[in-house]
Amino acid sequence: MGVGAAGGAGAMFAAMGALGLAPAEQRSDFVPPQASDFRLRGRAAAKVVVLGAGIAGLTCAYELGKAGYDCTVIEARDRVGGRSLTLRGGTRISEMSGETQRADFGEGVYFNAGPGRIAQWMVTLDYCRELGVPIETFVNNNSSAYVYPAGATAPVRARTARADVYGYVAELLAKATNAGALDRRLTADDKDHLIAFLRRFGDIGERLSYEGSPRRGFAAFPRTGPGTPLAPPAGLAEVLAGGIGRAVTMDFGYEQASPMFQPVGGMDAIVTALAAAVGADRIRTGTRVTRITNLPDGVEVICDGSAVRADYCVAALPPHLLAKIPGNLGTPVVTALATPRPVAAGKIGLEYGRRWWETEDRIYGGITETDLDLTHIWYPSYGYHAPRGLIVGYYNTDEHAELYGRLAHRDRLRRALTQGKKIHGEKYRSEVVSSVSIAWQRQQHIEGGWVRWPSFSGAFELLQRPAGRVYFAGDWLTHLIAWQAGAMESARKVVTDLHHRVLASAG
Ligand code: PHE
Repeated sequence: MGVGAAGGAGAMFAAMGALGLAPAEQRSDFVPPQASDFRLRGRAAAKVVVLGAGIAGLTCAYELGKAGYDCTVIEARDRVGGRSLTLRGGTRISEMSGETQRADFGEGVYFNAGPGRIAQWMVTLDYCRELGVPIETFVNNNSSAYVYPAGATAPVRARTARADVYGYVAELLAKATNAGALDRRLTADDKDHLIAFLRRFGDIGERLSYEGSPRRGFAAFPRTGPGTPLAPPAGLAEVLAGGIGRAVTMDFGYEQASPMFQPVGGMDAIVTALAAAVGADRIRTGTRVTRITNLPDGVEVICDGSAVRADYCVAALPPHLLAKIPGNLGTPVVTALATPRPVAAGKIGLEYGRRWWETEDRIYGGITETDLDLTHIWYPSYGYHAPRGLIVGYYNTDEHAELYGRLAHRDRLRRALTQGKKIHGEKYRSEVVSSVSIAWQRQQHIEGGWVRWPSFSGAFELLQRPAGRVYFAGDWLTHLIAWQAGAMESARKVVTDLHHRVLASAG
């Protein structure tokens, strides 16, 4: 008899634990270097110059600072945070094309132009806790949001799409099972258990046929009466051909699973807290690095004509930009830095004077998944029922992001509204009160949404190690690319490696 059947889930987990299969409690195991490490050895703290005040650079400076290091952070942009950027009323944002936009959002409205969601297991939440940054739920999956597959003529609610996909898949598998197609894999008991599960999974009846389900939702929801049903589901072939399955699995992965979180008031709360902890006096914005040189006993960084000397350097810039900075890192390192390819990514924030997505569409947070070039529409997970609000009207990558990125803001807006109107109707176009867009590949000193490596060996491995006294940090050096957590994990690794070296070195 299976352990699961003997005593329910509790017994099963206990047995799994005994077998080493149950999940271990996950906690942060990072022990930052101690300031006393220096005092105990009776010597001065090492000096570190950190290049880049994005999440990786700021986390490095923060952790090194705790340990008593003397850090200076050099940032080429005129603000800290890198891609962790929140735009509010009055913020200006320029692109390399020369176009400058100004966010005209009303009170309380903000736009996370970069990262917008944090998974529960990510180290980002540990920093929020440590730094006192309050968090709230980010709605990543909303059954009321829409799905708009290629060739659609009308949007479908996610709950309807999900019910249809699960329903038909359950029907097929149940019928194949009963027809004996799986007899080589399944015992009679297995088949019973599977069919019992599929009935629940797909809401298929005794006949194991999917004929729709209340799970799909209603044309008018039940109230005092039973409600008005939707038109019956499209046929199996149509549902499969629609590609809806892709949309209804978007949060199946460990990175996107619900619940997710966001800092209250904007993602840049993390940046603000980190920068304050590092100390404004240690951060030089608007300062470009033009040369990085390993010396026999230190490093020299030239920025805007002046030289900064330090014992060590942490280069926390995008690799494709680092590769172009002159110095003596050596050809293999420079070649490695030029190996990951930048990926284009873009977003547009659309502010509306009323939250029609809540009052009319009954969508409170979440994401509409589409095969249109806008790809995703995000509804805000904050400010519910406020007088105004901001939708992310596109969030796309690769060729779609290139396409929007090439346009001036006015044309990005026009295109996004023409597309989004297919889902939300005329109000989507006519009621916009302000907007701002970003093409990350066109942001100076960043030039990409994130990067993609051809492989996680070779160049990726080489850059895990310092080049002389220059260490590298960033999400791009982890398996958490395009997450702030990647930048933070990389920073912790570099701080740990650097501190071990400093303590091991003579003098
Ligand atoms: N972190 C980004 C996001 O959540 C990019 C990303 C998407 C990374 C999906 C991994 C998986 O949108």
